[in-house]
Amino acid sequence: MFENIDIESNGKDEKMIRSSASTVARKMLDFMESASWIRKMFEEGAGLRAKFGADKICDFSLGNPDLPPHRSFQRVLETVAADRSPGVHSYMPNAGLTDVRSRMAVQASRDHQIKLSAEEIIMTCGAAGGLNIIFKSLLNPDDEIIVSKPYFVEYGFYVDNHGGRLVPVESRPDFSLDIKAIEDAINNKTKAVLLNSPNNPSGVIYGRTELEVLAKLLKRASDYFSRPIFLISDEPYRRLVFNGYAVPPILRFYPNSIVITSFSKDLSIPGERIGYVAVHPEASRKTALLDALTLANRILGFVNAPALMQRVVGEALDHITDIKVYQRRRDRLAEILREAGYTFIVPQGAFYFFPRAPIPDDTEFVRILQKECILTVPGTGFGSPGHFRIAFCVDDEVIERSRKGFIRAMERVGI
Ligand SMILES: Cc1ncc(COP(=O)(O)O)c(C=O)c1O
Repeated sequence: MFENIDIESNGKDEKMIRSSASTVARKMLDFMESASWIRKMFEEGAGLRAKFGADKICDFSLGNPDLPPHRSFQRVLETVAADRSPGVHSYMPNAGLTDVRSRMAVQASRDHQIKLSAEEIIMTCGAAGGLNIIFKSLLNPDDEIIVSKPYFVEYGFYVDNHGGRLVPVESRPDFSLDIKAIEDAINNKTKAVLLNSPNNPSGVIYGRTELEVLAKLLKRASDYFSRPIFLISDEPYRRLVFNGYAVPPILRFYPNSIVITSFSKDLSIPGERIGYVAVHPEASRKTALLDALTLANRILGFVNAPALMQRVVGEALDHITDIKVYQRRRDRLAEILREAGYTFIVPQGAFYFFPRAPIPDDTEFVRILQKECILTVPGTGFGSPGHFRIAFCVDDEVIERSRKGFIRAMERVGI
């Protein structure tokens, strides 16, 4: 008959585990458990909306751009959609449409101040799709990806999807890179260092000097281990920058680097799932790497990035949303937080504040803000307890209305 292999209980309720694990994979059950605080926050927010009315809630919990796409977007979309040429909806090369990749290569060459060609670009299902094809292509079992805290919560899941391990390291108090912490974390399992700049959730842009030092460290470590340690730069917020700040051209610093970007935030089209990966023209084993990325796009089930959206962003890639609006909101929220007595770094890009919670327990403070009908996210979720994230992709009116709540929350903790 069938062999009965015992499943481990992990110290959890055996009966529940056995019944759920008969349908849902145990690892997913664990993930669902560890991600449950997000669901909880969401449910608590929904409860507050039902109780007080949606118009009374200041919801700063989601990084979902609220601004409409640029006014030209609809026109481009309609023109592209009207194309009835044969094959326009067909399967295509897994890396994407060649003419669109050429246009992205022009953009990446401009952003990174080196010459890239279409063959070094893979069109992806957003930055999330890009990260997954990179990890799928690079990681052997238990390989490690180092990331500086605070970091985008999904990274841990993406790295795990491909059998790797995310290794978060401390940053400096201003959230800049702690190069020594990165150096200490590098070992013979390290496959890459992952950066995200402008950073979600801190809004910090990593500066030229720290990137130069990091590049030198990675070069030294690659020589030591006689294999490349990659620099992966996740840049969906590259063009969402304020006061003339610019994100340094990562590909210029280090040949074994890979950039991911998307149009989710700067074109305000996250639901359309479109972005790309750019590989440095001098990356080690570049052809094999590009072939692996292309195959990963196919076998992870993306097959290729959406055809219609590839054509649309090919035409509309420079029609970015109105950054001045985000800057205005950032400035007003900074005034409000300052007045209320919070400690924070003014974001240089993206649309998040990551203030210090005035009490050590950030989750508790997020609950106190909820009592004031303000929804935010605890820093614990980004690997940095003691902080909380405010996403300011919300209407100016919501920011204005939040003022009293932010002040009262401080009063509630006796500050
Ligand atoms: C840092 C970071 N990386 C990647 C993503 C995923 O972006 P996309 O919607 O383009 O997949 C997000 C989305 O919020 C993000 O904040």
